[in-house]
Amino acid sequence: MCGIFGYVGNRQATPLLMEGLRRLEYRGYDSSGVAVINGQIEVAKKIGKVSELASMIPTGIEGNIGISHTRWATHGGVTDENAHPHISNQSNVAIVHNGIIENARQLRPRLEKQGVKFLSETDSEVLVHLIAHYLDLGSTPLSSVRRALHRVRGTWGLCVVFEGEDIIICARNGSPLVIGIGEGESFIASDQHALTQYTDRAIFLEDGEIAVVSAGKVQMHLLSGGRAAQNITTLEEDWGEADLGEFPHFMLKEIHEQPEALRQCISGRTLSSEGNCKLGGLELSSKELQKIPHVRLLGCGTSLHACQVGRLAIEKLARVPASAHVASEFRHNDPIIDPKALFLAVSQSGETADTLSAVKEIQLKGGKVRGVVNVVGSTIARQCGRGVYIHSGPEQAVASTKAFTNMTAALVMFSIQIGRARSLTRNRGRDLVKNLNAIPDQLEAYLANPGPIMEAVKAVKEAKMVLFLGRGVSAPVAREGALKLMEVAYIPCLAYPAAEMKHGPIALLEPGSPVVVIAPNDELKEKTRSNIQECRARGAKIILIHEEGDDIAEEADISISVPITTPLLSPLLTVVPLQLLAYNTALELDCDVDRPRNLAKSVTVE
Ligand code: M6R
Repeated sequence: MCGIFGYVGNRQATPLLMEGLRRLEYRGYDSSGVAVINGQIEVAKKIGKVSELASMIPTGIEGNIGISHTRWATHGGVTDENAHPHISNQSNVAIVHNGIIENARQLRPRLEKQGVKFLSETDSEVLVHLIAHYLDLGSTPLSSVRRALHRVRGTWGLCVVFEGEDIIICARNGSPLVIGIGEGESFIASDQHALTQYTDRAIFLEDGEIAVVSAGKVQMHLLSGGRAAQNITTLEEDWGEADLGEFPHFMLKEIHEQPEALRQCISGRTLSSEGNCKLGGLELSSKELQKIPHVRLLGCGTSLHACQVGRLAIEKLARVPASAHVASEFRHNDPIIDPKALFLAVSQSGETADTLSAVKEIQLKGGKVRGVVNVVGSTIARQCGRGVYIHSGPEQAVASTKAFTNMTAALVMFSIQIGRARSLTRNRGRDLVKNLNAIPDQLEAYLANPGPIMEAVKAVKEAKMVLFLGRGVSAPVAREGALKLMEVAYIPCLAYPAAEMKHGPIALLEPGSPVVVIAPNDELKEKTRSNIQECRARGAKIILIHEEGDDIAEEADISISVPITTPLLSPLLTVVPLQLLAYNTALELDCDVDRPRNLAKSVTVE
């Protein structure tokens, strides 16, 4: 989603800004722009790729201070005018902004009455005019930003530059910003990975903070007035820039990284002889685990699907009620928070605004939330304080793949840990741990020989709609398969618990309709077999994901087998053919696999 990069120092800003934007590209965007100060403020902005912006300013704009932005449209269409930076009418202030100004519609006419001429349809533009207004009234840059922010409602991560000033002012409320402090130079980014090549000394802005950033120096202030503490953190992990290696796309690369990523996730966390797992970062003793009355998991998209698998595993192994919540709905429904319940917020990026809001709502009402997060030091990880890192490594493709397997594995390990503290026997625990440790090798074996994926591609690529079915832990896998195919190949997909299909979606089936069924060899398999037959009776074409050597294969038109495991762990294997199906279908349809239209990697607005 929108990204920010800023620089103040002795070097030419433009090349650094362009490199910063390039590093933020993976988040998804539709336009980009820069503003550089060289006495006066010069702005260049454009819809399309960062490379197109770069070719628009081939010789660079001279100057040592600048801000830049990748925009993912919310308010106002995808146009050059709506791209950031936005500049004041007197060209003395420029701003880049992530987030949403909720009262922009009310403020706009008031500013127009004062003579302001708006150049874009964005909510962000009101900020630049408000700041310029207070500057005109004689306020300092800091006080102008403060006064402007007191007038707006909403969320922001923003950077402001001023003509004739060698500072960048940044502020945060709900949208992340990190300041990197170098030797005689400073960097600002909405994502720490854009900073790590320059410095490991960073200040993560907290909500309600404003920073005045100059070359190598930062002054921290509070929006409410007065100074704020300056907490310098060492950036822990530099993932560097993931390169494609031998792969044509990040999505395929990340699918193939799953065995190794899973090893990273489970390594040191399973206790084979005790039949147990230990997720130390949760900081929960056996005694505490015994007393938890309810586990509630929250996430969006793929993370939600991992939560749905996790909740079934927790109930099954620990016999404690568990629920999975759509994080984007959570806080708006005035949820009842039991302070004794355990909340787990699940997120790859750790920046998803909907999940973050849910976390804050729980904390506000006295609940405790642990994070299950991939990106170290991300906002959700820091907001939760304690939790589990899933160690997937960088995930660059918009479609999440290896994060799903690792989130699911982390939640299964948690379910074993809480299970062993309660009702799970050592023997059953040992069996699960043994099977879990075998999955990375099984994934490797499957990826080396993935079966007739291209036949399945042929069956779905021209379909009006694809139906995905599964029961138990395979129902979230069905949802994940549908989400993948929809987001990268733009094919309408429905996912249903297999039995629920006959309560409605069966009406959609026609001769030849592709139905993808996930049917591992569990206690629900025979029931799923009946549902397959119901589909077949209507002429549907069955693409069946099943375990090697299972006779359910005879129900399939296209049969794709995965290695055998214990039922609860089957999502770690059955999801992979679905990822490959989506990837290869997108390629066949000539879609931009790694950057699907309209989507963003980190969804930082609610
Ligand atoms: O970073 P998060 O895990 O919090 O992201 C949640 C969703 O936005 C994400 O899973 C999204 O649905 C992916 N594009 C799915 O492939």
